[in-house]
Amino acid sequence: MTTRAFITGAGGQVGVDLIAALRERGCEVHGSDIADRPSTVDASVRWHKVDVTDAAAVRRAIQSARPDVVYHLAAILSSGGEEKPQLCYLVNQTGTWNVLEACREEKVPRVAFASTIAAFGPGLPDPVPNEVPMRPRTMYGVTKVAGELLGEYYTARGWTDFRSVRFPGLISAGKPGQGTSDYALYMYTDGIKFGRYEAFCRPDSKIPFMYMPDAIDGLIGVAEAPRERLGKRCTYNIQGFSPLASEFAEVVAAAVPGVKITFKPVEWRQAILDSWPRSLDDTVARADWDWCPKYGLDAMTKDIIPKIREKLARGEL
Ligand SMILES: NC(=O)c1ccc[n+]([C@@H]2O[C@H](COP(=O)([O-])OP(=O)(O)OC[C@H]3O[C@@H](n4cnc5c(N)ncnc54)[C@H](O)[C@@H]3O)[C@@H](O)[C@H]2O)c1
Repeated sequence: MTTRAFITGAGGQVGVDLIAALRERGCEVHGSDIADRPSTVDASVRWHKVDVTDAAAVRRAIQSARPDVVYHLAAILSSGGEEKPQLCYLVNQTGTWNVLEACREEKVPRVAFASTIAAFGPGLPDPVPNEVPMRPRTMYGVTKVAGELLGEYYTARGWTDFRSVRFPGLISAGKPGQGTSDYALYMYTDGIKFGRYEAFCRPDSKIPFMYMPDAIDGLIGVAEAPRERLGKRCTYNIQGFSPLASEFAEVVAAAVPGVKITFKPVEWRQAILDSWPRSLDDTVARADWDWCPKYGLDAMTKDIIPKIREKLARGEL
């Protein structure tokens, strides 16, 4: 059971919800990010303004927090990474190395890492099994495969105990980073806010998605699983639901009367989507640490719409 957690990229879409979930479980939480503390994060959470590309600063922050577990989330996401591949390499590859080195030097027992479906390339079976050749087409994917492998290496050397989940596209009542799965979230947020949204993908696009409460459960679940149950394995597929983009549009249109969702594919973003899995096989995570998501598309839609309306009313979206 975690008592003290340190989170990198804590101000992002996943980070703010992870902070809230860990606090609810009674953990002491240290947030860190290159950005200031978001207004939605409780002032009692200690905030370290740290750039993960600065190895000395990462080490100092981890040294002062003395965590039982580091959740390493800081990253440049898939679309942002294709626009700025050099920055993506620096933050995701060098940043992950810096975090792992700081954990080795400061003897942090566990590291939990957010990997992604983008770690896979095209031409794989559907659903994609846990263990397949990893041939991603984006800089983001390349750096995430490298992060998975580095973590396995550190675990094998006994330098820390690394675990990671490959997240599908994540949907929450929050602001997305610069991901390529964001079209689904914007159907909800822009649909409610403006009554319309033009998606940057084809209607027949299909990749896996997950509602954020399940994603947070998955990340904490893998972080807290007993090592005896995982054996030597460090990285797990986790699957939510895999609707077509057109099915998302239909569900949003049914739940938000009058909304108009249209499609205007952007070639380079569509190419990224077409290189990703349509669904993941997560039987290994189910067997090893009892992974079991709670939300499907309809349950998520029912839950998220009032939350988005509340956040819009408070000016948080
Ligand atoms: N959101 C998704 O759909 C999704 C899907 C798969 C995997 N993931 C992974 O989950 C993790 C969290 O993603 P997110 O959706 O919260 O992304 P996000 O873009 O919302 O948050 C990333 C955070 O990292 C911070 N950051 C960027 N550069 C930094 C640097 N140099 N030093 C320190 N912090 C820096 C940003 O300020 C931001 O707060 C990432 O590792 C991402 O790859 C996300």
